[in-house]
Amino acid sequence: MAKINITKTELVWPGKYNEDGTKKEVPRVSLPFQVIETVNESRATRQAQKEKSLGLFDVYEGKEGDTFEAGWRNKLIWGDNLLVMGSLLEKFAGKIDLIYIDPPFATGDDFSFNAEVGDSDTEIRKEPSVLEVKAYRDTWGESGDRYPNWLYQRLVLMRGLLKDTGNICVHCDWHANATIRHILNDVFGAQHFQNEIVWWYYNKMQGNVGRFASNHDTLLWYSKTPIRTFHAQREERDVVKRQQKRVWDPTTKSLKQAKDADGNLVYYDETERTIDDVWRIPYLMPADKTENVGFSTQKPIELVGRVIDALCPEGGLVFDAFFGSGTSLLAAEGVRASRDVAGKKSFYRAPARRWIGCDFGRWGVHVARKRLLGVEECKPFEVLNLGRYERQYWQGVTFGATKGKPPAEQALYEYLAFILKLYGAQPVIGMAQLHGRKGKALVHIGAVDAPVTISEIDLAVAECAKLKQGELHVLGWEWEMGLYDLMVEAAKKQGVKLLLLIIPREVMEQQAAAKGDVRFFELAYLQAEIKQPKKLTVKVALKDFVVPNTELIPEEVRKVVKKWSDYIDYWAVDWDFQNDTFMQGWVAYRTRKERTLPLTCDAHTYEKAGNYRILVKVIDIFGNDTTQAFDVEVK
Ligand SMILES: C[S@@+](CC[C@H](N)C(=O)[O-])C[C@H]1O[C@@H](n2cnc3c(N)ncnc32)[C@H](O)[C@@H]1O
Repeated sequence: MAKINITKTELVWPGKYNEDGTKKEVPRVSLPFQVIETVNESRATRQAQKEKSLGLFDVYEGKEGDTFEAGWRNKLIWGDNLLVMGSLLEKFAGKIDLIYIDPPFATGDDFSFNAEVGDSDTEIRKEPSVLEVKAYRDTWGESGDRYPNWLYQRLVLMRGLLKDTGNICVHCDWHANATIRHILNDVFGAQHFQNEIVWWYYNKMQGNVGRFASNHDTLLWYSKTPIRTFHAQREERDVVKRQQKRVWDPTTKSLKQAKDADGNLVYYDETERTIDDVWRIPYLMPADKTENVGFSTQKPIELVGRVIDALCPEGGLVFDAFFGSGTSLLAAEGVRASRDVAGKKSFYRAPARRWIGCDFGRWGVHVARKRLLGVEECKPFEVLNLGRYERQYWQGVTFGATKGKPPAEQALYEYLAFILKLYGAQPVIGMAQLHGRKGKALVHIGAVDAPVTISEIDLAVAECAKLKQGELHVLGWEWEMGLYDLMVEAAKKQGVKLLLLIIPREVMEQQAAAKGDVRFFELAYLQAEIKQPKKLTVKVALKDFVVPNTELIPEEVRKVVKKWSDYIDYWAVDWDFQNDTFMQGWVAYRTRKERTLPLTCDAHTYEKAGNYRILVKVIDIFGNDTTQAFDVEVK
């Protein structure tokens, strides 16, 4: 390796420099976003914007203005933040006022989410059963060597997104704060370091740990330039302080003691103090149902709200590239919490900021969406992803295909072998549609860049039947909308038991795949009845939610599920689906406080009679989406 030209004190890590001693470029991939769902927006507003933009609405075009009046919608983005930020740069370079991030800290642990299952029995106050699932993994190999480069690449993209007056606040704990501070110096410049804020969570109970208990995290605040937003914050004092009054003396241009007419010093009672860099905010306790949603690294709204109040102007744009359970997004909506002297918490609202959030976790996206829906007058937001473009990119970089060209045969073979291995199957050769075998079943794997079609499944079933093989598993990322139950029936008639399984996004997460921590869920389907109780009025009643082969569901879940509706955590209706983005018209979901789920929705009245396509979306307790379209004639 060539000599690195060292001109300043800096941290060096594997992956920072090329062989010739030059700094490695950070990948900046710009991929198109797809809008997969819009929330809290009326179809009329949406239609008006659609006509204005004259484009396909399921591709994000970024033509909206910077205010809600000018059509701005907040953005919940599901995907790897490296690709998401690269893609955001086109529209948002230099536009973000505050970046707050709470990334993995290289703890070496897996973090969980407690998904609750079924209705709680209010009569006897039984708690709902809990299904503990992995929310994300924070493992970086024995020495954690990959962590610095991983974070560095992301921070470089964040700097590009920040406004010149913008701030970044990075949440960390003792595991990586020394490393993170050096990387921040590298990317933002040590001269732009503003504060190391200590979040002291005095209420976290820890046993005898053989050293002082670690009861604080740190927030590292950097600005992009010396001119930055900062609003000092005040808080009530625990004990009122008797303070000497001081006044400005214009002659000496200094502060001096104030005196009354008799020459006595003037005192006053100070009930507030200006907040310094030690923030005494309690840890979120598991029993706190007002806020805690069961996401193990969830941060208190009091903490994140204060960051936003201090470092982002009103109406400014906040970005969180690791939103987890969505705390920063709620805080940007203006949700705030405070405590009285007895420690009792209450919620209030502060001026809203606009927000963009990104997370690659299925659970994060689901939990954050539910939390946002619970916010009174939550502003319209849209859910976006990079869909097949992200998968194509992943396939390209992981299996060696050249960008922009169809994947080479070798790369395709490697892709199939990789998925088969994760599924616990062996490759088979010489077949047209069949790629592998798992036990007595043959396996077909869908492409990364297209939905599995009905005709593709038909061909695979026919090949299986010809080979006199009785079981076929089809694995797909996305599916052509259709009647899966009918397909399963049709396959049965040819003597083939058909299982349709979803390839989960975790396949693309190195840490999940390396641990073999990937579960393939069976595609479920739902049955609903569309009722027309009166003229122009429609109601949807869920009738069944079918997970076809329940033996594939872990036993601990099967034990607690008493009825089909227990599998459902959330459901929503788009009353006029236009074959593009799902537009949420009505929604119901379970929360920690409210476990009962209505199975019939509120009535919807159309303005005029006609043919409409109603789309019903269910999110189950495993975090998977199932949608079903119903074509109705409204009279
Ligand atoms: C510490 S948690 C954030 C918790 C959050 N502050 C809250 O209050 O709920 C870190 C989050 O980063 C997400 N994450 C990790 N790597 C990511 C990546 N490359 N792209 C997007 N999200 C990522 C994880 O899924 C996890 O939800």
